[in-house]
Amino acid sequence: MAVVHVAPPAAGLAGTLSVPGDKSIAHRALVLGALADGTTTVRGLPSGGDVRSTRGAVRVLGARVDDAGDGVVTIGGAGPALGNGGPHAVDCGNSGTTMRLVAGLAASASAETTLDGDASLRRRPMERVAAPLRAMGATVDTTAGHAPLRVNGGALRGIEWTLPVASAQVKSAVLLAGLRARGATRVREPLASRDHTERMLGYLGVAVGRAGDVVEIDGGQRLRGREIVLPGDLSSAAFLVVAALLVPGSDVALRDVGINPTRTGALAILRRMGADVETRDASEIGGEPRATLRARAGKLRATAVGADEIPGAIDELPILCVAAALADGETTISGAGELRVKESDRIAAIEQLRALGVAMRTTADTIAITGTAGRPLRGGARIDAHGDHRIAMAFAVAGLVADGGVEVVDAESADVSFPGFFRLLADLGARVTSR
Ligand code: S3P
Repeated sequence: MAVVHVAPPAAGLAGTLSVPGDKSIAHRALVLGALADGTTTVRGLPSGGDVRSTRGAVRVLGARVDDAGDGVVTIGGAGPALGNGGPHAVDCGNSGTTMRLVAGLAASASAETTLDGDASLRRRPMERVAAPLRAMGATVDTTAGHAPLRVNGGALRGIEWTLPVASAQVKSAVLLAGLRARGATRVREPLASRDHTERMLGYLGVAVGRAGDVVEIDGGQRLRGREIVLPGDLSSAAFLVVAALLVPGSDVALRDVGINPTRTGALAILRRMGADVETRDASEIGGEPRATLRARAGKLRATAVGADEIPGAIDELPILCVAAALADGETTISGAGELRVKESDRIAAIEQLRALGVAMRTTADTIAITGTAGRPLRGGARIDAHGDHRIAMAFAVAGLVADGGVEVVDAESADVSFPGFFRLLADLGARVTSR
C-alpha cells in the first residue's frame, strides 16, 4: 500500500488549475447515454476507478463505449433494449453509485443481472434500492441486505416511493427503472439531494416533473443521444479549496467547476466560517452550471452544520472537518449518520484527527470538533485511509498544516475519484513525498 508524506509548503499554495470532470454527472452520462437512442459524446470524462466501473457496466448491458482520446468518449446507445437478454454479471468495484444506478437499469431490463463489488461496497446498504425496485415488480435478491445482488427485471409498473433517507443514488435508480415502467413514477425525498439525473434526463428529451419534494416521470419516454460537456468536480475541488484556505498566503483558482446548487452546500458552510471563496465567470452547459472558484487563505471561525445541510455537502464533510480543526471555536455537524455507510465509516475514520492533536467528540450521527484557531496541527501521525479516497485526501490536506507533516497510508485510494491528486498538490507548492 502506497504511503505518501505531506508536509507544510515553504510558502502559500499558488496557481490556476483544472480538476477532473464531475464523477457524479459522469456516471449519469454513461448510464443515460447507454439508454438513449443514437450517439452520446461525453467531454471531460474523468479517468478514476468509479467511472471506469460504470463504463464497464453499461458495456456489459449492451452499449458501445469508445475512447476518442483526451477525455472524450462516445457511447452508442442501446435504447430501450439496454440490458435485455443476459444473464449479465457486473463488477461495480468500489462504486456505490454504479451499483445503485445499474440496479435501476437491471430492474427494468428483461434479463437476470448480478451486481457485485469490492469488500467496501459489499458492506454498504442495498436494501434501500432493492425495496422500491421490488415494489415496481422486479425480483431483487440481496445478500442479507448487501451485495452481491441478483436482479430479475422487466415488466415494471410505476410507483410512488418516499425515500426514508435522502439519497440521489436511490432516487436515480427508481427514476431509471420508471423510464421503462408502465405509468407514472413519483419519488418523494425528505431533503433535496443532488438533481443531476433529473437535469440530464431533461437535456436528453425526457419530461421530468418537480412539485415540491416530489420528482415525477412517465414511463415509456425515449432519450435522444447528445453531446454532454462535464464540469470539473466540485467534490474534488473542495480539497484544494480547503488547502488554499488553510495554508497561509495561498491563492488558488480552479477553472470550470460545477456549481449545481444541490452540490454547493460546502461552499456555503465555508463562507459562513469566514472563508474567502469567490465564484466568477459562471456559465451553464447542458443544464449544469459551472464557474471558476478562487480561494484565498484566511482565518476561519466555527459553525453549526444542521441536518438539513447534509445532503448538499455529504461528500465534502471529511474535508470540512479538517477546516473545522483549524477554525476558531467548536464546529458541530448534526444528522450525519449517512457518513457511517460511505466507502468507509467516515465518522470513525475522521476521528484520526485526534492523532493530530485535535479535540473532538462523536456520536452515531454527530461530530463536534474544537479548532486550533489557526495554530498548526501536531505532525508525525500515520493515518490509515481505510481504502477511502476522501479520507486519504482530507488527511493529505491536514498534513499541509501539521508541524512535520502527516503520513497517509493507502494513499492510492484517492485514484477512485481524483487520479493525480498528490501531483496537483505538489504542483501548487506542497511538499509531497512517497515513502
Ligand atoms: C452520489 C450520491 C451520494 C454521494 C455519492 C454520489 C450520486 O450518495 O455521497 O458520492 O452520484 O448520486 P447517496 O445517494 O448515498 O446519498
